[in-house]
Order: sequence, then structure tokens, then C-alpha cells
Amino acid sequence: MVSAIQHKREAFWFYRFLSIIYDQCTDLGTWTEAQRDEAVEDLNLNDRNLVVVDVGGGTGYTTTGVVRHVDAKNVTILDQSPHQLAKAKQKKQLKDCTIIEGDAEDLPFPTDYADRYISCGSIEYWPEPQRGVNEAFRVIKKGGRAVMVGPVHPTHWLSSLFADMWMLFPKEEDYIEWFQKAGFVDVKLRRLNPKWYRGARRHGLIMGCCVSGVKPISGPSPLELGPKREVVTKGVNPILFLWRCFLGFLGIIWYTVIPVYMWIKDKITPAGRPI
Ligand SMILES: C[S@@+](CC[C@H](N)C(=O)[O-])C[C@H]1O[C@@H](n2cnc3c(N)ncnc32)[C@H](O)[C@@H]1O
Repeated sequence: MVSAIQHKREAFWFYRFLSIIYDQCTDLGTWTEAQRDEAVEDLNLNDRNLVVVDVGGGTGYTTTGVVRHVDAKNVTILDQSPHQLAKAKQKKQLKDCTIIEGDAEDLPFPTDYADRYISCGSIEYWPEPQRGVNEAFRVIKKGGRAVMVGPVHPTHWLSSLFADMWMLFPKEEDYIEWFQKAGFVDVKLRRLNPKWYRGARRHGLIMGCCVSGVKPISGPSPLELGPKREVVTKGVNPILFLWRCFLGFLGIIWYTVIPVYMWIKDKITPAGRPI
């Protein structure tokens, strides 16, 4: 079963509204600059001339971390939301980047095109995560590196219920399996946490895992997949769409309360103790 917002049309409408305040929420919430910089570090940007694609790049929050290490003219931001991309276009440090609309499961780049692929906080909306990971594999060159950041599944029963209602919260082993199945080698997983979570993961995290891998051969992924499950131009059943929006809304409320709860716990629990 796929969760409420793990559909392209629903994700589009979600970001139609969230794009208005997205950049104000990031550093306050569970996707801090420190977490983002850890993810960018895993990309190993050791040359300013590297060609980089940021998939599901949104307002360019991650890309602004990338362009500190590589020339902006070599960086492409791709997203399915024109509203998110409009915010990226306003950022001075991204003015030389290429900014395009597109689908993470069907990238408009040639095979073996880029040196690096990064995607942060987007996989949870993809109806077929394996297809998106295969695309990451296809578009980078032999020896290139891909980094993907996404949520981590809660172990707490109530958080688990709300997480599953809202969007995809994969388990750590799912990320590793998708990367290995796509053909990546040297697959590594780094746990991300805002500092004030003190490593607690029972309620899950919206940005909790950073998985990376290296492409060992040229060409597309050896894992062949059938036809795409979701074709956006087909339209959606409006009742189903509203039902998913309602479930998604409940999930969002819960995951607004949880970071505040964890923040208060961090403030009142003596230093050095787990929360
Ligand atoms: C949480 S935001 C992350 C934005 C940015 N990467 C960051 O680090 O702040 C998720 C983004 O994924 C995009 N997205 C969701 N599904 C997508 C798809 N199938 N193809 C491309 N982008 C997608 C959304 O429009 C949104 O901008």
C-alpha cells in the first residue's frame, strides 16, 4: 500500500501551498543546515567542475549547500513543482544554475551525464522509489556518486500510524536495498538527526537517513522495471484525492507536534541523558 501523499498529483498540490513558507520552515524544523551539510559532504564534491543534478531540488535549499563546492553553472535543479522552483529562481547564489521541471522517476538527462546526483527529502513522495533510484544510477557516470536523504520509519506505534497515513517513511534497510538492487556499490548509510533530538529515532524523522553509493559501470541500471505505475496526465479520482489530502493533513499535524515535543524534552532533560 502507498501512503496518502506518495502520489505525484497530491505532492504537486501539497507543494503548491508549502512552497510559500518552505524556506522559513527548514532550519526551524527537522531539516537543519547542519544536516544538509552532512549530506552534501557525502557527495564528495572534490572538484569545482563536477556536473551535479539536484533532483526534487525544490526551493534550492540543498543546492545552496552544493554551490559552495562546485560552480553553479554545472548544477541543475529539477523538481515537479513550478512553485518550489520559482523560489529557487529568486536566490542569488543559484542564478547560474539550470532550473527545470521534471519527474524524478523519469529524468530528462542522458545516460552517464552527471558526476554527482543528490536528492534530499523527495523520495517519500515517489510512488516507486526503486524507479527513482534506478534513474539516479542511470544519469551518473561510471565512478560517479549518488546521495539520497529521506525520512526514517518510527518505531513508536502512534507515530508509525500517522507516518504511514502521510507519506513514505522507509526503514534504513529499504534505502540500502534500493541502492544495492539498482547496482550501486560502496553503499553507506549515515543517520541524520537535528542536534536537539539527541539521537532519538522512535518517532521517526522527516530527514533521518542519508544513503550514498558509487556507480561501478556505465549505462542504465541492470535492474529492469516494467511500465511506470503512475502517469500524472491520466488525472485522479477527486474523492480519492480528497481522502488522501485529509489523511496527509492528519499526518502533518502529528509531525508538527512531534518536533516541538522533542524540543521541549531536550530543554528540560539534564544534559548527557537520552530523551
Ligand atoms: C521536502 S522538499 C525538498 C526540497 C529540497 N531538496 C530541500 O532539500 O529542501 C521535496 C521536493 O520534492 C519534490 N517532488 C516530489 N515528488 C517529485 C517527483 N516525482 N519528481 C520531482 N520532484 C518531486 C517536491 O515538489 C518538493 O519540492
